[in-house]
Parts: sequence; structure tokens; C-alpha cells
Amino acid sequence: MRAALENVYSVDHPALEVNCFGTRFSNPVGVAAGFDKNAECTHALAALGFGFVEIGTVTPYPQDGNDRPRLFRLPEDEAMINRMGFNGDGMTRVRSRLERDGTPPVPLGVNVGKMNTSNEEEAIEDYRRVFDRLSPFADYVVVNVSCPNTPDTFDESSPEHLMAIFETLEAENDDVPIVVKIGPDSPPASVRELLEIVESQGVDGIVATNTTTSREGVRSPTREQWGGLSGGPLREPATDVIRLVASETDLPVIGVGGVDSAEAAYEKIRAGASLVQLYTAFVYNGPATAREINRGLLALLERDGFDSVEAAVGTALE
Ligand SMILES: Cc1cc2nc3c(=O)[nH]c(=O)nc-3n(C[C@H](O)[C@H](O)[C@H](O)COP(=O)(O)O)c2cc1C
Repeated sequence: MRAALENVYSVDHPALEVNCFGTRFSNPVGVAAGFDKNAECTHALAALGFGFVEIGTVTPYPQDGNDRPRLFRLPEDEAMINRMGFNGDGMTRVRSRLERDGTPPVPLGVNVGKMNTSNEEEAIEDYRRVFDRLSPFADYVVVNVSCPNTPDTFDESSPEHLMAIFETLEAENDDVPIVVKIGPDSPPASVRELLEIVESQGVDGIVATNTTTSREGVRSPTREQWGGLSGGPLREPATDVIRLVASETDLPVIGVGGVDSAEAAYEKIRAGASLVQLYTAFVYNGPATAREINRGLLALLERDGFDSVEAAVGTALE
């Protein structure tokens, strides 16, 4: 079944290849965190032509997340609002699943988070424990400090907290690239401050961005629901953050937010993203999503005279 899906959906072309975090990605279009929180379908996602899969957010213990309803479609805006709140099976069950099923035939990202009840000190230990358990399976690990729908008991992106997280993880780490996922709602000065910390701690990259609490440009009446907004309206704000990160640093960026077409993926690549990810467009556009974006990217690269995705990265910054 998987082989049949792969035949239909995967696009194989050397121009799509990206080398990032010391790993070869056969195409730059990945599945964003939240879709396969518990590593239940990584192989199927690879068979649908995605170039990489990010599982998680994984927490140390199982957690229910927020009460239902907690996920809303805004079809007028091709958007979603979610306040899932880190529901998940916890690291032990996720690890058993990875051991049982093996890792997928594409690079695997593991997105790690803290328990909703943890205080600042406990949070550091949460990240350390999930990292310790799951990093052996990961091609890169994401520290998620930007979820807008988990309880705010302390400032997760304060410089002191971030330093403590990175110092702790780097002390445990042999050679797995560690990246940090940031939100779209911080002012540029705060992003710059975070980038300084990230660079000083030897962090390997940035995922930009998580969902937004803004409702700007959203038409659907469902906009009143609280939670993180993803999809169409996030496209430009997320690209703005990618542009800022790419113009301030040489760190590889995974661009995410409103990628729903080859044009949207290309815009993020040209703004500085080496790889892109998506969630909401997969919900609206179905199983051919990665194939259509990859085919379209090949056409756009040819139109503009780039011989590979890598050659196009950051070219809108020059
Ligand atoms: C239902 C849902 C659950 C999500 N859960 C997570 C999560 O657990 N961890 C995380 O880092 N991001 C999570 N995200 C954010 C996505 O990874 C992504 O950053 C965001 O949706 C923007 O991409 P999109 O516009 O393509 O959906 C979630 C998004 C949605 C819609």
C-alpha cells in the first residue's frame, strides 16, 4: 500500500534535494508538528511525498490537553484555530512506537515540550528527559517554546529560561541538531534578542513560525474562538519572521505558516527558508498536497533560472 502511494505522490528530482542539519532531504516540503503528535503515521506521511516529518509536541508524560471543542475550521480563510494544549501519549509510548515501527524513510524531526503543570525549573527537566529519550531517533530536535494555547505560568521565551534549556540540552547532546521554534507575535527586537542567545548557545536552527493569537485579516465568525490561528492569514506574518531571522543570522530556517501552494513555499524559500512545513493546507487540500507543491516548485525554479531549491534560498533578501 505504501509503495503504491509513493508511486502516485512522490516527486523525485535532484533539484528538490536539500542538505540541512547534516542530513539529506529529498524534497523541502515537510509535515509540521501537531499533525502526528504521537508518531502514529510517519511512514504513511513519507509515502504521501513529504520530504520530512516532525512528530510531537511530545511531553514527558501522557497529557489530555484542553477540553473539547478545541479545533475549529475557518473555511472562508482557509485557516484553523486550535487550542489542543499539548495532548499526547507522552515520551515512553512514543518511543515504543518508534522502536516497533522504525523511523520513516525520510528525515524525522522530534518536537519536544513541557508538561502544562510544570514550573520554570521543572520545565527544564521536562525538555531534558524527552530529549534524552527521543533524540536517538531524531535527525533534528525542536524545542517548542512558542505554543500560544498552553497555560502561561512563566515567560517561556525569557532569555534566562532559554539559556537554561539550551545549556542543559547541549550538555546531554552528542550530535543531534537542536533548533528552536518561535512564534509570529513577538516584536522584532525580541526576536533579535532571542537570536543572540540562540547563536551564543550553539543552537543549530530556527523553526518559524508557530500559530498566531492575532486575528488580523480573518473574516470567519469563528475568529472569536481563543487559540492559535494557522493557515492563510499566517502566511505573510510567518514569512516576515523568516526574512528577519535570515537577514540577521546564517542559521538554517524551517519556514512554516500558511504554506498552501508552490508559490507560498517558494516565497518562504526565497525569504530564507531552507525547508518548509505545513499542517493546515494538508487538512484542506488532502493527500496530493506535497506532490502539487513539489511539482510547482520545479516549475518555479525553472522559470527563474535556479538549478535547485538550495540555489533559491534567501534570494529575495539580496
Ligand atoms: C491542530 C494543530 C495542532 C498543532 N500542534 C502543534 C504542536 O504540538 N507543536 C508545535 O510546535 N506546533 C503545533 N502546531 C503548529 C504547526 O506546527 C504550525 O506551526 C502552524 O500550524 C502553522 O502552519 P500551517 O499554517 O501550515 O498550519 C499545531 C497546529 C495545528 C493546526
